[in-house]
Amino acid sequence: MRIYRAADYEDMSRKAANILSAQIILKPDSVLGLATGSTPIGIYRQLIDWYHKGDLDFKEVRTVNLDEYKGISSGNQQSYHYFMKENLFRHVNIDQSNTYLPDGLAKDSEKECSRFNEVIEQLGGIDIQLLGLGHNGHIGFNEPGDSFEKGTHCVTLTQSTIEANSRLFKEGEEVPREAYTMGIQSIMMARKIVLVVSGREKAEILKSAINGPVTPLVPASILQMHSDFNIVADKEAAALL
Ligand code: GLP
Repeated sequence: MRIYRAADYEDMSRKAANILSAQIILKPDSVLGLATGSTPIGIYRQLIDWYHKGDLDFKEVRTVNLDEYKGISSGNQQSYHYFMKENLFRHVNIDQSNTYLPDGLAKDSEKECSRFNEVIEQLGGIDIQLLGLGHNGHIGFNEPGDSFEKGTHCVTLTQSTIEANSRLFKEGEEVPREAYTMGIQSIMMARKIVLVVSGREKAEILKSAINGPVTPLVPASILQMHSDFNIVADKEAAALL
């Protein structure tokens, strides 16, 4: 486990973007495991900037996303499909057919989960997985529970996650209560992991995840067992480490 301490959000974004861009430069057809939420937005902005400067090429890059809401279409502005398009894909030369997310409108959830597991397998696994940290220690949408879930599965979101994510929805819009997420095994099988954390309100949970016991009650704590686990945290988030 390596901890990279950043001065602030901008610095955290640049440091994490450097790790991702090194991966793309060293292996142009890398499989990037991507995340949504507010934390990675600065990283995507930085990657777009380096792409415009000619330092990065996404032509052969493949991507898989951690999660997607269930019951909304990819065109819905709140979907993670839309988020990825707006925050990264449409700004760089990635081939959209090389970008994969679970389909929120799939009729058969179980089939959709197996399909997504197969996608990851057929791509040859994930080279580098970017992760944000939920306030309750979730990664992707793997919520605290009795055990670690393995592959892609469908989850009922906890009230705290629904509330945390409601800030991204317009007033009156309902936050979906269910989602698809990669499982803990899919995440742990990534060859490299980069967890990005920003802000004082994440300091406590980051400390439990990194220094506390490995437990499904804090899903991110399993990352301690990964052999190439990198944490990029700004000063406020790293304050208790
Ligand atoms: C959501 C996403 C997670 C993300 C988390 C934290 O629930 N499913 O993948 O890491 O929120 O988001 P933020 O970075 O906005 O705090």
